[in-house]
Amino acid sequence: MIVDSVFLNAKAYLKGQISDCCIAIEEGIICKIGKETQMPKADQKTDLHSRLLVLPGLIDEHVHLRDEGKAYKEDFTAGTSAAAAGGFTTVLDMPNNEPITMSAQTLRNRMGIAQRRILVNVGFYSEFPQTRSEIREIAKQGAVAFKLFMGEQMGGVNVDDDTAITEALKAAAEMKMLVAIHAEDHTVLATNVAKLKQAKKTALTDYLRAHTKEAEHIAVERILKLSTGTGVQLHFCHISTKEGLTAIAEAKKAQKTITCEVTPNHLMLTSEELQRYGSLTIMAPPLRDRFQVEALWHGLNEGSIDAIGSDHAPHTLEEKQATNIWDVKAGIPGLEVTLPLMLTMVRKGRLSLDQVVSRLAENPAKIYGLTDKGHIKAGNTADFTIVDYDCQFKIDAAKFKSKSKFSPYDGWEVNGKPVKTVVGGQVVYDEGEIIVRGGTGRVVQGSAL
Ligand code: DOR
Ligand code: ZN
Ligand code: ZN
Repeated sequence: MIVDSVFLNAKAYLKGQISDCCIAIEEGIICKIGKETQMPKADQKTDLHSRLLVLPGLIDEHVHLRDEGKAYKEDFTAGTSAAAAGGFTTVLDMPNNEPITMSAQTLRNRMGIAQRRILVNVGFYSEFPQTRSEIREIAKQGAVAFKLFMGEQMGGVNVDDDTAITEALKAAAEMKMLVAIHAEDHTVLATNVAKLKQAKKTALTDYLRAHTKEAEHIAVERILKLSTGTGVQLHFCHISTKEGLTAIAEAKKAQKTITCEVTPNHLMLTSEELQRYGSLTIMAPPLRDRFQVEALWHGLNEGSIDAIGSDHAPHTLEEKQATNIWDVKAGIPGLEVTLPLMLTMVRKGRLSLDQVVSRLAENPAKIYGLTDKGHIKAGNTADFTIVDYDCQFKIDAAKFKSKSKFSPYDGWEVNGKPVKTVVGGQVVYDEGEIIVRGGTGRVVQGSAL
């Protein structure tokens, strides 16, 4: 038998250990892992020289790829190039697009446009539509999950209406669809912003006074209450406070279907540094103080935080530098810094490589039901993140593949560089270059009924 390709002399992360091995691939699937003598003949051979670390292809469950009406900020090609350059082989795209992804039609269009352009695998979230039958249609169209922005009115469900939210959660549960939550309370935010605006407050720190930790805590408690008894699987996006995390950890003890995520930003930066980095680091939820950051590290280490999501949220520099704080767009690009930042923290002893792999590959695969991904094993899709673990380099935002070429981490010295990214057996990114055409990635279909 002659297979498509073989990776020779890999140091691969297998079953929680780094093993010297070779990996054979046929039609995008891992067909054999073993010694060189056990490898079948192959059309193509890539020697990793027993130096490069092969991790399961990383999965970022939280990215905003934009495109369509927001293509000026980011598009599928640039966003998935950034993913490949950052070592991500699968990303899940948020629905706050133009048009908002919130119907089978908008989802179908988006999938169609994406399929021709994407370099890594992409799954799609949908916002909630207005009716139960539309929820069913969206699930059948292949959304991977629903998203509920609690901080602002986005989709078809009134975020101030408890009954409407509960009904939507029930309908999602019926379709076995996960619901991802942006937990900041709309009423709290709107009240705070109105007061601050009236008082003509426009400083950077006023943004923090609006997006308080109570806004997160109240939203977490509210959705936990509304979801009780619905059977819905909840995933909390970008948790940023000890209070929010504690409430989630408590609820998890009673109910197995709750998970949560943290962004590298909320781990690496603090609100004390906001002045230094300026409006670039405005994001929702915002950076928090050192005490909160420590609580997040603790949660990540002891397991109450299940996943790390980049919340890749590209904007133009003009949008980030608006003079009035209330006009500044929240969010920063994250796909090209997440893995190096986390590997640097492994070197510093803040977390283990096992935790990096579980939070960035194994757990996202499990949470989102991506059963062919997350582990390097025979039968799984051949998605790999190949890393030069010892490579020390400086983050250079000007070289980002993302359209958003700025970062608070610009110039940071980091350790651990993604050097090759393999999607379905194909090397899509190699030493700084994208080497395949758009369309190499697959649209990930949700597994709902
Ligand atoms: O900082 C953020 N940026 N938070 C969000 O919830 C939305 C996101 C975006 O789309 O830019
Ligand atoms: Zn969010
Ligand atoms: Zn987001």
